[in-house]
Amino acid sequence: MKYIKALAIKGISMKCIKVFAIMVVLGVGGGLALIYSGIMNIAATNPHSSLVYWALSTASSNSIRYHAKDIKAPSVDSQEMIFAGFHHYREMCMGCHLSPGVQSSEIRTGLMPQPPKLQDVAAQWTPAELFWVIKNGIKMTGMPAWGPTHSDKKIWDLVAFVKNLPKMTAEQYKAMDAAAGPDLGDGGNSH
Ligand code: HEC
Repeated sequence: MKYIKALAIKGISMKCIKVFAIMVVLGVGGGLALIYSGIMNIAATNPHSSLVYWALSTASSNSIRYHAKDIKAPSVDSQEMIFAGFHHYREMCMGCHLSPGVQSSEIRTGLMPQPPKLQDVAAQWTPAELFWVIKNGIKMTGMPAWGPTHSDKKIWDLVAFVKNLPKMTAEQYKAMDAAAGPDLGDGGNSH
């Protein structure tokens, strides 16, 4: 009350304050009604509006950059790391993020937001940023956190592979696939 009086003294009329208070109450009430009524369509087949998509993707990119800023990346260009990362990528990521020469998958088509083709976007991220996303995942998008089940070493191997993806051809991917042989499965987290 004291605060409101002080504002009134500063020249903001009581009428303005009342209108503002009513707007806040209506806004909060409207928001709650939307949440409880069930009319919001959460179907993954119902795309976000461009405003919501902008808000979510901007918040997400900035959050990744902010949280990765103190991570010190090791060097991630050895062939050994790239090949180890390939095994993990084929097992854990390819279904959602595709691979060179592959244009779609059933799981990716049904996700909202749709996972980006990593080959096209990997160059926008530093190794530290990729490490942070892969380790921590992204809330409410379908991007899992791999940190709870994989060592930092395995995640850096993945980063090495993903960083190499933009310059990889479909033939090179197939050759790596053949060289890697069949996967050993996830039982011992060995991929
Ligand atoms: C179940 C599907 C799914 C799987 C599996 C998955 N991701 Fe994702 N990933 C997503 C989604 C969805 C996003 C967020 C897209 C958005 O925010 O628009 C995402 C975002 C990312 C991003 C941020 C890219 C960007 O430009 O927004 C990276 C990097 C990434 N994933 C790497 C990986 C790696 C590496 C793996 C495997 C270890 C993996 N993901 C497995 C669904 C998946």
